[in-house]
Amino acid sequence: MNRADCERMDRDDPLAGFRDEFVLPADMIYFAGNSLGPPPRAAHDRALEVLDREWGEGLVSSWNAAGWFDLPVNLGNRIAPLVGAAAGEVVVTDSTGIDLYKVVHAALAMRPDRRVIVMEGSNFPTDNYMIQGLIAALGRGHTIRFLEYPDLDRALDGSVAAVCVNHVHYRTGRIHDMAAVTRRAHEAGALAVWDLCHSAGVLPVDLEAALADFAVGCTYKYLNGGPGSPAFLFVARRHHGEARQPLTGWWGHARPFAFDRDYRPAAGIRQMLSGTQPILSLAVAAVGIEMVARAGVDRIRSKSVQLTTLFSELVSIRCGGYGLRVISPADAAQRGSQIAIEHANGYEIIQALASRGVVGDFRSPECMRFGLSPLFLRHVDVWDAVDRLLEVLSTDAWRDPRYAVRKTVT
Ligand SMILES: Cc1ncc(COP(=O)(O)O)c(C=O)c1O
Repeated sequence: MNRADCERMDRDDPLAGFRDEFVLPADMIYFAGNSLGPPPRAAHDRALEVLDREWGEGLVSSWNAAGWFDLPVNLGNRIAPLVGAAAGEVVVTDSTGIDLYKVVHAALAMRPDRRVIVMEGSNFPTDNYMIQGLIAALGRGHTIRFLEYPDLDRALDGSVAAVCVNHVHYRTGRIHDMAAVTRRAHEAGALAVWDLCHSAGVLPVDLEAALADFAVGCTYKYLNGGPGSPAFLFVARRHHGEARQPLTGWWGHARPFAFDRDYRPAAGIRQMLSGTQPILSLAVAAVGIEMVARAGVDRIRSKSVQLTTLFSELVSIRCGGYGLRVISPADAAQRGSQIAIEHANGYEIIQALASRGVVGDFRSPECMRFGLSPLFLRHVDVWDAVDRLLEVLSTDAWRDPRYAVRKTVT
């Protein structure tokens, strides 16, 4: 394998054309698409259209005329096929953590005699924090039982109300078997809640086939929706009506424009909404979501497997002997679209790489994450990035003290 092989793979890549649809700085190799995807070029025009025409000219009439009021549900319908859900089961709103709070609250109310929520302690921390806050607010004696893969679904009993798992682990990139964990949860009488932040848009997800009960996920990673773009939330249709979220604002009311005194829940997925939504962000997020739909998740996944396999193989062949430990699963079938590598000086190495135009990120205490977003990364990018990694390691360039200065966002 050499750089020419990578060029050949890029020539054969059916998704190659998508790269030009993104704004990417020249000479940057961007491995942080699993944190914040880059802007689609069309997002710029769409944002201006909303600002100038829909907001500037249409003003308040755009809630009807430009479809603003229905945007959270319509956008949910566009995400639905990407995650194996049906129209009317997904809505785009709020942040991942808030959506998780809403659906876990709903799940606990559906299992009133049970007090245990099973989670991985190594989840993305906001999930743990949100559930800790939720059970404190409920004040009914709920507890979290923290279990780790592969024991997650082995200790389920009649006290468990919900199992709440990250589909792809934010650190290692390991994929949980959604169908198997959901089945075990159901056998124990519990409900299954999935966080799809690291799988939506990059991995085939089939919520319906797995019989998942609830799910949440963000749109700013592989869906390239923009910084802080709203999250999405899924409620299986069989739970509509019974599943009730706690933040009962007017957007979730059965007749918001009747201005009734008392709350009455909307019948469908709309009940999961609380208040006025960020239309600019929603409109821009639609652009990235449309690109993923056009590319097709299956094609995205096959390129993702090629890229992660190439990256991990090149790292192990070319960068051995420098204390790197790849912690992502070696089997591509168990791996999402990132390669995570631990090193005692991971922070410094990530900074040294960034100063050479290779942008990954760092998760304390030792984890370097390289997200491989198939819509814009090329095989030659992987080759060149490993070149620079080897240079940083073999010359000890990372020891430069300026790379040790910790930034707020790592
Ligand atoms: C698995 C997972 N859940 C949740 C979040 C963040 O949630 P929020 O959108 O509420 O900030 C992240 C962020 O990276 C994540 O990786």
